[in-house]
Amino acid sequence: MQDITQQIRALKEKKNAIILAHNYQLPEIQDIADYVGDSLELARISQRIAQEIILFCGVYFMAEITKMLNPDKTVLIPDLHAGCPMANMISPQQLRTEKGTHPDAGVMCYVNSNADVKALSDICCTSANGIKVAQSLKQNEILFIPDKYLGSYIANQLAKKKFHFWPGYCPTHMVFSKEDLSKLKVKHPDARIVAHPECRLDVQEIADKICSTSQMISYAQESDAKEFIICTELGMLHRLKKENPTKEFIPGSPSAICPNMKLTTIEKILWSLERMEFKIEVEEKIRVQALKSIERMLSL
Ligand code: 13P
Ligand code: SF4
Repeated sequence: MQDITQQIRALKEKKNAIILAHNYQLPEIQDIADYVGDSLELARISQRIAQEIILFCGVYFMAEITKMLNPDKTVLIPDLHAGCPMANMISPQQLRTEKGTHPDAGVMCYVNSNADVKALSDICCTSANGIKVAQSLKQNEILFIPDKYLGSYIANQLAKKKFHFWPGYCPTHMVFSKEDLSKLKVKHPDARIVAHPECRLDVQEIADKICSTSQMISYAQESDAKEFIICTELGMLHRLKKENPTKEFIPGSPSAICPNMKLTTIEKILWSLERMEFKIEVEEKIRVQALKSIERMLSL
């Protein structure tokens, strides 16, 4: 009798499928995936996939980007409820109204958003490339949606551009606080604080490094420090430890768990491949429009 990971590997081979996983996925899922990465890396990888079936372990908007880049392939998500609450904090109607209030602003949309919102935006960005994307916009006025914290992080680096923010945020990243981090610093005085730009601004202010999930790995590799306090979802610690076995990683909060990322389990991956569920579909008109803002970002 094969164990579950052997069954997944065999089925993946038989069906000509590939597994992509985000850095927040459970350790056993990261270990079985063909590629693990941040949003930008996974979008780029999905542009050069030969297999017919892409099984995406992450949240809905990430699988949706993969489908928009690969309309002729089957893109599967093991649990249809794996959404991102931040993505649902702005609707197309709300964005239309906001655009009316700032008619001269370029619309910059964090990829943590739904396809119909991307379709109304000028360009997308991720946590890895926000500054570069904002600099690429010809407009000096930017309407940034939906994450006010990532937007503020970018705005703080670009004094010449005027930003308007939508009041969206990530509930998982709200658990980090300056007070808890100051206490951790007393216990680990030599540790570097590494924070995702979805963290609150007071957390960003005391961080030594602010970056995307995958950029945390290169920062830890390149840094002289031996200890790091990590302010992002706990799933990140698996890869950080695996790729830096001589360094120590301390969670910035034990409660930083994204319940949506954790909906995907190894069993659901097997069922997904067996039953070919759940297929991501995007309405063609929306796909074509949204793809423009995604491809504009990927071309930078
Ligand atoms: P990254 O693109 O940095 O992996 O972030 C995605 C995300 O959802 C963070 O909460
Ligand atoms: Fe969305 Fe936050 Fe989960 Fe990232 S961690 S997928 S932003 S809810």
